[in-house]
Amino acid sequence: MKTIRDLDIGGKRVLIRVDFNVPMDEAGNITDDLRIQTVMPTIRYALEEKARVILCSHMGRPGGKRVEQFSLAPVARYLGELLGQTVQLAPDCIGAATESVVAAMRDGDVVLLENLRYHADEQDNAPEFSRQLASLADVYINNAFAVSHRAHASVVGVARYVAEKGAGFLLQKELDYFHRSVDNPMRPLVAIVGGAKVSSKLGALVNMLDKVDALLIGGAMANTFLKSQGYNVGASKVEDDLLPEADRLLTDARAKGVRVYLPVDVIAANNFAADAVTKQVTIQDIPDGWMALDIGPASVICFQEVLTDARTIIWNGPMGAFEMDSFARGTMALAHAVADSHALSITGGGDSNAAVKKFGEDENISYMSTGGGAFLMLMEGKELPGVVALEG
Ligand code: 3PG
Repeated sequence: MKTIRDLDIGGKRVLIRVDFNVPMDEAGNITDDLRIQTVMPTIRYALEEKARVILCSHMGRPGGKRVEQFSLAPVARYLGELLGQTVQLAPDCIGAATESVVAAMRDGDVVLLENLRYHADEQDNAPEFSRQLASLADVYINNAFAVSHRAHASVVGVARYVAEKGAGFLLQKELDYFHRSVDNPMRPLVAIVGGAKVSSKLGALVNMLDKVDALLIGGAMANTFLKSQGYNVGASKVEDDLLPEADRLLTDARAKGVRVYLPVDVIAANNFAADAVTKQVTIQDIPDGWMALDIGPASVICFQEVLTDARTIIWNGPMGAFEMDSFARGTMALAHAVADSHALSITGGGDSNAAVKKFGEDENISYMSTGGGAFLMLMEGKELPGVVALEG
């Protein structure tokens, strides 16, 4: 796979796919700019090389229609401030009006195309849409790790119609960090997997069993594992249809010599609410009708102990409903433990990153991936379609 450095981009029209799908408040202020900051080195490099930089991204899921709330206008303004130069927002991402904006560009200009997902053809990976996008540029760069698990036109289809293509610095860095930590790690390698559903992470858990030395499981998904081992988890969220898979995974882990740690105690609540009545109980004592919403203090100590020896840590998914203070302690303690460890630490997924940020540890994690679904797909041991498209 070529990278932007391998290509001659001076004076050329360079279409850079980025992921500017950033959270915004109701007033249109960007509330987390990680995905913008992390693509700046590639944009700056292209500008230093005197390229004509055409950025394209999706924002949200507007369903193939123009929906003002999903316009990239606030991002264009924000980017202009960061770069100290005008970033023109094109009226669309394809079509005559957009083509004229691009035709008027000079070396060193930056244009941001309007939301790709205003067209259903983007998500359908439609050949004609891909061709039209490609016709705007001489060189295509994928720097959108976070959407590289989607076989969409701007990620996959477009690569077929451009003369030259390659990876941007962010895509390259994400892949390097991931493969360094999972395929060739300093050991012990410990994975922390949490979040709501086993179903969305089963593939990742199965694949990680062949990679890790220890696996810490928390969050609501731990309930399914606990129930599969015969514990009564009260009214906790459980995926009953996955009980056999959960049990099999634990059996396979034993056979492979992977140590799996489940919570030994939890914070139980009588309701899924910030003001619920809570109790700290062992997993043998979750009362009927109550639900586990965080790991308890004994589990925290046990998980911390495992992390102390880790040389590599990969973390995806929180330990509890950390957005409510009553259920934030487990995730907070792990964020501090990961940050304090001497391990190479990588977090992926919006919730894990939000937790790390909320607990003030974002400077102390080796690498925070910008990917959610893409990160999980790598954990599943699969290739990203957006990366495969650059290789073809
Ligand atoms: C993300 O936020 O994970 C990426 O931008 C992909 O968005 P999507 O899940 O809407 O495809």
